[in-house]
Amino acid sequence: MKNTYPRRISQALGAVGLATAVTLACGVQSAGAQTSAPDLAPMPEVKPGNAAMIELGKHFFFDRRLSGDWGRSCASCHDPEKGWGDGQALSTGYPSMEYFRNAPTVLNAKHRQRFLWDGRLDGSDAGTLVRDMITETHTMNMDSRLMQERLKQVPAYDALWKTWRKDDINGMRVFNVIGEFIRSLETTNAPFDKFAKGDADAISAEAKEGYALFKGKAGCVACHNGPIGSDGKLYKTGVPEHPDVLANPLRTITMLRHYATSGMPNYMNARTDVGAYAITKKPADIGKFQTAQLRDLKYTAPYMHNGMFATLDEVVAFYNQGGGEGSGLEPLGLSATEQKALVAFLLTLSGDPVIVKAPAEPEMQVRTFGKN
Ligand code: HEC
Ligand code: HEC
Repeated sequence: MKNTYPRRISQALGAVGLATAVTLACGVQSAGAQTSAPDLAPMPEVKPGNAAMIELGKHFFFDRRLSGDWGRSCASCHDPEKGWGDGQALSTGYPSMEYFRNAPTVLNAKHRQRFLWDGRLDGSDAGTLVRDMITETHTMNMDSRLMQERLKQVPAYDALWKTWRKDDINGMRVFNVIGEFIRSLETTNAPFDKFAKGDADAISAEAKEGYALFKGKAGCVACHNGPIGSDGKLYKTGVPEHPDVLANPLRTITMLRHYATSGMPNYMNARTDVGAYAITKKPADIGKFQTAQLRDLKYTAPYMHNGMFATLDEVVAFYNQGGGEGSGLEPLGLSATEQKALVAFLLTLSGDPVIVKAPAEPEMQVRTFGKN
């Protein structure tokens, strides 16, 4: 069998020092090898999660009392009506701050191998991700003990908790409960999934042409593969810096603070988002980000770690020109019709809108010391 991937992709990845990853990600085949080429896959059938935890997690996800100033819930930045992101290029962050990256969708959290744009957290541990969102100064700025005591003073939550366990509301478990909720949100009914399971008419002829380009001439599948279209690995595609990261000092500060807390050497001199380097400290990782998932793009514009592209047409045009500075990707030479077909195909990976209505925030009943 022959390696079916365009040579320029292997070259590009080689150029950023990822020879090993290429072998794994691209399934580069030597003569007679049994490994199959990487491809997209339909969403897997998964066991439903713990219903009592999901119900509790849903309430907590929408409750502003989980943030330090009582002003932000998870849904402020991951709004179901905006594809579970916030619809902005760069996230607003906790009041009085501005963040330096885009707020991604939480859909398909269960299927992520790694979390966050720089891939810094393990995708199998949603509880830790939730803890960071709640306790980080630039997102919800909440102390987990204060959160626990606040939630205990909501009788309706206490009652709901008791449907799950006998003990008191506990901070660590709150993180896991919200994790269980976001792990229940996933793409359903996407035309691509029906197509992949054998319904040849589920996607248009144009989208089929786009799929062929995705796996062939355009080479997207080398990095975007599996059920959500991400290999969970880090690459430099050279997306240009969002000008507001430096123009707005509040964004520059959150960026530098993120680097400082990551222990990045010489962080004060950083003037661009270095991506995974802040975590790994390997110079080869400067400017690398995790392969984004391709599910539900219909609802999640703008795109990339800094929302630099407002439309999928712009994303495809970016790849067609060979990505950005230092990417090592080469121009694809796609015609206007081919680029349109690729976009039509990408949209078949989106499912029905996943809308969860925000439950009302139940009343608190302030406890008096010594009386209860
Ligand atoms: C102030 C805005 C804000 C709030 C509030 C917030 N997030 Fe986020 N969230 C972000 C941003 C920004 C990122 C990306 C950060 C990065 O990659 O550096 C993110 C990333 C994530 C991701 C990773 C998705 C992926 O595919 O990598 C998940 C899951 C998530 N948030 C869930 C939550 C949950 C659950 C809550 C509530 C406990 C929450 N977020 C609260 C802004 C927010
Ligand atoms: C070398 C690996 C690689 C190749 C090849 C590649 N991508 Fe990507 N893709 C990435 C990475 C990494 C990101 C995240 C980049 C960032 O945020 O700065 C990304 C992001 C995206 C996004 C943004 C999704 C979002 O939610 O923001 C889309 C859409 C996308 N790629 C489509 C494609 C298409 C279409 C092709 C083929 C023309 C392609 N990619 C080829 C690695 C790759």
